[in-house]
Amino acid sequence: MSDDIKKGLLGITVDETEVSKVMPEINSLTYRGYAAQDLCAKCKFEEVAYLILNGELPNKKQLKAFEKIERKERNLSKTLLDDIKKFPKKAHPMDVARTAVSIMGLEDKDTKDNSPKSNMRKVMRIFAKTPVALAAFYRIRKGKKVIPPKKKLSFSENFFHMCFGKVPSKEIVKAFDVSLILYAEHSFNVSTFTARTITSSLSDIHGAITGAIASLKGPLHGGANEEVMHMMNKIKKPENALNWINKALDNKDVVMGFGHRVYKSGDSRVPTMREYFGKVAKIKKDKKFEKIYDIVEKVMIDRKNIHPNVDYPTGPTYHLMGFDTDFFTPIFVISRITGWSAHIIEQHAANKLIRPLASYKGNKYRKVVRLNQR
Ligand code: SDX
Repeated sequence: MSDDIKKGLLGITVDETEVSKVMPEINSLTYRGYAAQDLCAKCKFEEVAYLILNGELPNKKQLKAFEKIERKERNLSKTLLDDIKKFPKKAHPMDVARTAVSIMGLEDKDTKDNSPKSNMRKVMRIFAKTPVALAAFYRIRKGKKVIPPKKKLSFSENFFHMCFGKVPSKEIVKAFDVSLILYAEHSFNVSTFTARTITSSLSDIHGAITGAIASLKGPLHGGANEEVMHMMNKIKKPENALNWINKALDNKDVVMGFGHRVYKSGDSRVPTMREYFGKVAKIKKDKKFEKIYDIVEKVMIDRKNIHPNVDYPTGPTYHLMGFDTDFFTPIFVISRITGWSAHIIEQHAANKLIRPLASYKGNKYRKVVRLNQR
């Protein structure tokens, strides 16, 4: 393959953005200039969602107005809820999320209007309704009654309420909120670039987010947090971890939750998420996964110098919170809708059709021979 081809667009800068940046000088991911871990310490997820979408942290009045819209838009249409009840129970929740957003697009009165105001209205509807659609499926597939959203609950509290019928302790809610803040945005990752590519033909936001969800499902991207849990369940006990991971590396297996295209000496989100994983493990009095976590991490760094990414600590954390494993990536979705939307809006504001070139290596020119002579 010729040198001027950068497979996977490795190291290629294709556009500018103001949404986020990994700042090497502070070795931290920053959203609109604020360090993600600083936001985790001082803000709740709704404040960060507002920041990513609007460019500034909200004051109290702005936050109240933002939350009012998000909470008002939580209700699903009867059509969407009835459709979710007909989805195959064995459908993957990522496919449910993708389909639900698609159906929202069919119903949205602003679908044809890509103006900034209309797009923001559509963003708030997708942002508010997707967790409700997912929680409804979570209950329906277990044969349980759907629990409607509660306006008085925060974004994170409401998700627990709709899935489990109760809101856990504020420490657990805070850990969940932190995971949403850390998952919210990460520049031109493959699902965000998918959303931007779809937007670049001036298609609509529902289509762009549907495509982004499809991309995030992949195990090399958001699907990794689910695969991390499958790995931990295969390892079963801390005493199996050392052999298991060494064997995996001897087999040249790809170890989920490790490595990253951008971070080469550690994902800046991991220390914060690891801290909250520890808090949740302590509350749940279950240290088993932490022990497995630390043994696998040590071997990956010592043998391959490959560091964990954010999906590594979030997997076991969501498990300890009680979520089904195939719901881990959908949780990534309900957070990343904010980052995707900010990029879709940014793409619309300074659009250029995204259309790269390919280096052809197929057949030389040849004439067609009719069927009766072939
Ligand atoms: C996310 O881009 C983003 O920002 C994404 C994300 C976001 O917030 O949006 O951060 C979220 O998607 C995090 C990544 C989650 N995916 C995984 O955990 C899946 C496992 N990781 C690998 O598949 C890999 O690390 C990638 C895909 C994430 C990145 O791979 P690259 O940059 O394409 O590098 P590569 O696959 O070419 O690997 C380089 C070398 C290879 O060895 P050699 O062939 O050169 O000998 O490192 C090895 C790889 O085999 N390697 C791994 C590995 N990751 C890289 N070996 C074993 N296990 C791994 N996890």
